[in-house]
Amino acid sequence: MKTVKIGLLGLGNIGTGTYKTLEMNREEIESTLNAKVDIVKILERDTERDRGIDVPVGKFTQDPDEIFTDPEIDIVIELLGGIEPATSFMLKAMENNKHVVTANKAAIAANYHKLMDTARDNGVAFRFEASVGGGIPILSTLTGPLRANKFEEVLGILNGTTNYILTMMTKEGLDYDTALKDAQAQGFAEADPTADVEGIDAANKLTILMALMFDKYVAPEDIPTTGITQITKEKIEEARANNCKIKLIARAKKLENGEIEYEVRPMHISETHPLANINKEFNAVFVKGNAVDDLMFYGKGAGPLPTGSAVLGDVIDIVKTVLK
Ligand code: HSE
Repeated sequence: MKTVKIGLLGLGNIGTGTYKTLEMNREEIESTLNAKVDIVKILERDTERDRGIDVPVGKFTQDPDEIFTDPEIDIVIELLGGIEPATSFMLKAMENNKHVVTANKAAIAANYHKLMDTARDNGVAFRFEASVGGGIPILSTLTGPLRANKFEEVLGILNGTTNYILTMMTKEGLDYDTALKDAQAQGFAEADPTADVEGIDAANKLTILMALMFDKYVAPEDIPTTGITQITKEKIEEARANNCKIKLIARAKKLENGEIEYEVRPMHISETHPLANINKEFNAVFVKGNAVDDLMFYGKGAGPLPTGSAVLGDVIDIVKTVLK
């Protein structure tokens, strides 16, 4: 039986979730692939932290080139987060003929064309299902089963941390800081939660969705974006008095004239609307296609295991379709 060898960049929350998912479901994954899957090297400084997984110490390296230049490594999984050095590392991996899987929406949104072009020029796969909607398989659905559509609109709750905070403020009466700390403790938030609460993470994800749906790249900094830092208990009560809930919504719509309007901001959502009942770290994405009409996708948008599920789904797909 052949062995697929993987180099992993980063063993933080998502790296650990990916490692755990592989350990938990190894038998099923390997039998599906008819191949063994081995994470052979892990780029990570912190080799001591108790992550609740058993990682042989010999797998750790501090030198990324050990991964990029290892001829035996087929796939590099990038889970460092942040734009740099993650982007440079992904480019280097592709230039060394490694297929790349990532969950890193900030890096993709900032360098979408560069990453896509470099993957194409080097004949390698570049997959990033985990970058939008965590465990929800939205990107491969847009580029696969929904490809026959002209897309008209996307509307979504795309950030688990802020949805968790707003849910806890609305349902449990928690204050903002306690709810944020809770979300961080559960591994939903970015290393620096500013990107979550200021709406930047949702804007990064909207950039990726628009690129795939409308073939239009809009840099995240060009998306009008308002986060949730100004949401107070009073504003939540005001919404409740109008039978609404406040949700951070990312939205893009193709207009009659072909232009696309887009924004990320907290919106009042009627309590009867399905989006009002998406709670905690769950995400939901509404998509309208001209043939399929309305679709809604729902699932855990953040957290180590749901995100690990999407990362490994991409790995499995590459092994099945590219390395076969
Ligand atoms: N910080 C992100 C969120 C992680 O809360 O949604 C998943 O992309």
